[in-house]
Order: sequence, then structure tokens, then C-alpha cells
Amino acid sequence: NTTTSSAKLARDGFTSSFGVLAATLGSAVGLGNIWKFPYLTGANGGASFLLVYLLATLLVGLPVMISEIMLGRAAKRDAVSSLKILAPAGQPWWLIGAFGVLAAFLIMSFYSEVAAWVFAYVFKAMGGSILSSDPAVTSAAFAALVADPVQSLLWQWGVLLFIGGILLLGVSKGIEAVTKKLMPVLFLLLIVLGVRSLMLPGAAQGLSFLFTPDFSKITAGVVLTAMGLAFFKLSIGMGTMITYGSYFKDDQNIPLTTLRVMGADLFVSMLAGIAIFPAVFSFGFEPAAGPSLVFITIPAVFASMPFGHVFMVLFFVLTAIAATGAMLSILEVPVSVMVGRFGVSRPRAVLFTLLLLAAIGSTCALSGSLLADFKLFGLNMFDLFDEVSSKLIMPAGGIALCLFVGWVWGFDRMRDALSNHGQLQNEGLLRALFFVIRYVTPLLVLLVMLSGLGVF
Ligand code: PFF
Repeated sequence: NTTTSSAKLARDGFTSSFGVLAATLGSAVGLGNIWKFPYLTGANGGASFLLVYLLATLLVGLPVMISEIMLGRAAKRDAVSSLKILAPAGQPWWLIGAFGVLAAFLIMSFYSEVAAWVFAYVFKAMGGSILSSDPAVTSAAFAALVADPVQSLLWQWGVLLFIGGILLLGVSKGIEAVTKKLMPVLFLLLIVLGVRSLMLPGAAQGLSFLFTPDFSKITAGVVLTAMGLAFFKLSIGMGTMITYGSYFKDDQNIPLTTLRVMGADLFVSMLAGIAIFPAVFSFGFEPAAGPSLVFITIPAVFASMPFGHVFMVLFFVLTAIAATGAMLSILEVPVSVMVGRFGVSRPRAVLFTLLLLAAIGSTCALSGSLLADFKLFGLNMFDLFDEVSSKLIMPAGGIALCLFVGWVWGFDRMRDALSNHGQLQNEGLLRALFFVIRYVTPLLVLLVMLSGLGVF
């Protein structure tokens, strides 16, 4: 069939199974693994939290991720156009894609600023300027960076240019080629750091912080935290996986790939925890969350250990790699919509996205300095964008996607798409999956959202 093959020639996509895995895993693995997952696990009941998170990824993450990839591959278009052509005429399901574009800008605005600090820290770690075992010193160094508007902006724009440069190369020569090289490096570095951390005296205390089960900590709020984490971690609910799914190969086994990505992402999160907490406890520091863990505690921990200078550089390189794969996927959402929906050339779409982001993102870059007192709903732009995207847009997108697949698209189309037109046989599993997508996931996610909005 010549029409399909020429259409395939015209549209860029992932070229190998390993490329599909590297790019998709590259999207899931990010700053979330390094500062969100380990701390939340440790602080919320260790192994018990892990269990709840596993349930959340199975009941919410897996169905939504499979649905997104499936719809993207079936339509072979960007997040907005895919839903436009798959949905019956006149029904506004494409809004999922439109809100996804909005979420991409909001997330990227603060994410690129955190990535900016990480990239800055790669160089600061090399130069040794943040090498002090005194948290008061590392804390002052971080505060100085955040409070400096010029440095904050320049590092953010630098990161945007770097990501934009990769996106300019395209899907197979840019995203796929880069993530294929970077993901193995990331695993290697994590294992080196994990082993190093485990060999420190007193490492067991860190392991017990991470893994000791404490079921008394599992409250309704913690369950909901775990589900929110699953959305952010797996890059779902905002069209990212629709976009990447549209680049999947036709013979790719979607459910199996999704399971692999989820498993590998979990593995990275646990390794990150193993690389971080034994070291934190070994040198007598307090575990913390978010920026203070990565930019204040960790430099102090590394400064306390032999050859810490080298390991600190490795740690920030690793974190920069993780952030890179995630940012590529966030920006590909608006870029592909501009190309696919509005016929803009890829270079122009990348340029336009970067310019828009430099404008919106600067409100986050400056939220530690010039705009520190500028607040909406009591939050600065950095926190506001984080809250709106992960507590509102992503869960709502997840619900809408499940409702679309479960009630509009239907089982027959889903079976056809996920079995690669009958090549893979797994009727029983597909029926179970469909039931979850139709009833279980939308209801569960509704609970996440309502609690996020403070209804309970
Ligand atoms: N999954 C990424 C992380 O855990 O850091 C964050 C992310 C990437 C969210 C891509 C959303 C997205 F579309």
C-alpha cells in the first residue's frame, strides 16, 4: 500500500525497539525519581508506601499509560489531532490534548528551572565551589544561586537551548538517538553511586529509613499522594504518552513495553533511594525533601566522604541526564501539535516553544528573587504551576482518557490496537484491562483530584 508507506516516510518516529524503550523510559525517569520518590517513600511508611505506590501504578498508571500510547499509535498524530480523528465528529475529546499543551508549558516552566540548578551544579561540583560538609555553607551557596536573577535566568535559558537543540534534530535522530546513549549511562552511574553509598559505615540505617514498613503511616492522604506521584512519575494525563505513542513502531507490544517502562522506572527510583539515604545517614544528616535534599544535603554528604568530589560530579551529571529525557518529552507535546495541527515547520515550532517558555518560565526562574512576593492564590508561580498541573490537569486528563477509551472508543478497537491487529493473543488480560479503564481508574482518579482540591 503506497499511501501508507509514503505517509510513514513523511513522519518521523522511533526506529528500534530499544529506541522506543529508551525514549519512553527517558520521559518517565526524571527529577521525580531523585527528589520526590525516595523521600516520599521514606517519610510515608517505607515498604508500606511502596506497596501503595505499586497499587497506584497498576490501577492508575498502567491503564492510563497503555491507553495514551495506544491512541497515539492508532492515530499517528500529535496529542490534539489524534483525539480529533479518533473521536466521533463534534465531540470535544481533543481538549485533552489542548490541556496537555497547557500542562506542558506549566510543568516545563518550573521543571526547567530545577534542571537549571542541576546543570549549574554540575559545573559548580567540578569547580569544587559547593564542596563543604557544613550544611550551613551549602545552604548559603544554594540560596545565593536562587536569589540571583541573572544566574537563574541564564541557566534556565541555557537548558532550554540545549533541549531545543536536541529537538531540532528530530524524533529519531534527536530524541531517540540521545536517550539511547544517555539511559545506559544513567543506569551505570546510579549503580556506581548505589554501591558506593552501601559500602559506607552505617548504611543500614538509610536502608531501614527507606524500606521498614510502617502501615500506621498509610492514611487516606498518603494513598492519594502515592497516586499523584504515579501521574507525575509516569508522565501521563497530559498527552506526552499520546505523542510518544504516535512514534511507536507498529509491531511494538504496547502493554509489555509499558510494563517494562514502569518496572525500570521503579528500579531507578529505588536505586536513587539506595544511592542517597545510606550516605545521608552515614554522615549523620537529616533526610529532607525537594530542593534542600538535592542542593543542600547531598553536596554536604559528598563533601564528607573520600573522593566525594568525584562522586558529587557523577551525581549531578546523572540528575542532569534524568532531567534531559523528561524535558525532551514535555516539549515534544507542544512542538508536535504545532507541526501536526498548524503545519508549522519543526524548527519554527521549536523556536516558538522556546520563546514562549523563556517568557512563562522566567516567572519561575525569578520566583526566588525579583518575583518572590508575587503570588496568586497564596502561591508563587513556581508552586502554582506545579500544583495546577499535577493536581488538576493531569488527573483530569487521566479521567477523560479512560472515559474516552472505556465508553467511546470501546473494547473492539482497543483489542485490535493492543493485539497489533490480532497478532498478539491475550483476550482475558485485555478484558480485565478494559474493565479497569472503564470503571476502576476513572473513579480512583476522581478521588485523587477531589482530595487535591481539598474537598475531603
Ligand atoms: N516523569 C518525569 C519525572 O518523574 O521527573 C516528569 C514528567 C515528564 C512529567 C514528562 C510530565 C511529563 F510529560
